[in-house]
Amino acid sequence: MELFLDTASAQEIKKGVESGLITGVTTNPTLIMKEGRDYNEALKEICSIIKGPVSAETVSLDADGMVKEGIAFSKIAKNIVVKVPMTVEGMKACQRLTKQGIKVNVTLVFSANQALLAAKSGAYFVSPFVGRLDDIGKIGMDVVREIKQVYGNYKFTTKILVASVRNPIHVLDAAKIGADIATVPYSVFEQLFKHTLTDAGIKKFLEDWEKVPKRK
Ligand code: E4P
Repeated sequence: MELFLDTASAQEIKKGVESGLITGVTTNPTLIMKEGRDYNEALKEICSIIKGPVSAETVSLDADGMVKEGIAFSKIAKNIVVKVPMTVEGMKACQRLTKQGIKVNVTLVFSANQALLAAKSGAYFVSPFVGRLDDIGKIGMDVVREIKQVYGNYKFTTKILVASVRNPIHVLDAAKIGADIATVPYSVFEQLFKHTLTDAGIKKFLEDWEKVPKRK
């Protein structure tokens, strides 16, 4: 399973790329708002830092507007993937952009039926939002499992990009189901490295190393 960073912070993306473990980025209007900078400028910088897919979200509500925004995004860099919402207009835009060779990430997906429509519209990525489902008392990961089954039944090639990830358990569950990608906030990426026994083990080895007689 690939790991993407769910952030618009150039600093976090640089650190992710340096780790050698992050292969893509997802952004959205909220993440861009947090950075307090122009979306196009931020995207240009992000695409210069990472070679893998960078998702950029459209904000129009009609297909014509989404297609127009998507084409403009696609001119920023080759690795841009255009995000459209799971709506009737979004699926029209997905089909039109895909026909033009522009990759599309269908976002705000909360059911396997929505994911089926995204795949039938030619989406490159589908983004089920697990955290937001958990927030309303549903089990977000159940939807990911259903999407995996539906896509397997019909050999859809749309990649399952697990989004709205809030903790390492979400990452583990996504990997157990066999999702293609999990997009994670930088804080969750850092948590994946951590284990108290690893820290304790390093401390003990270093303490013991100090007691090893050394040649002068
Ligand atoms: C993914 O593409 C979205 O940007 C993101 O994962 C949403 O996460 P949130 O529900 O934590 O805002």
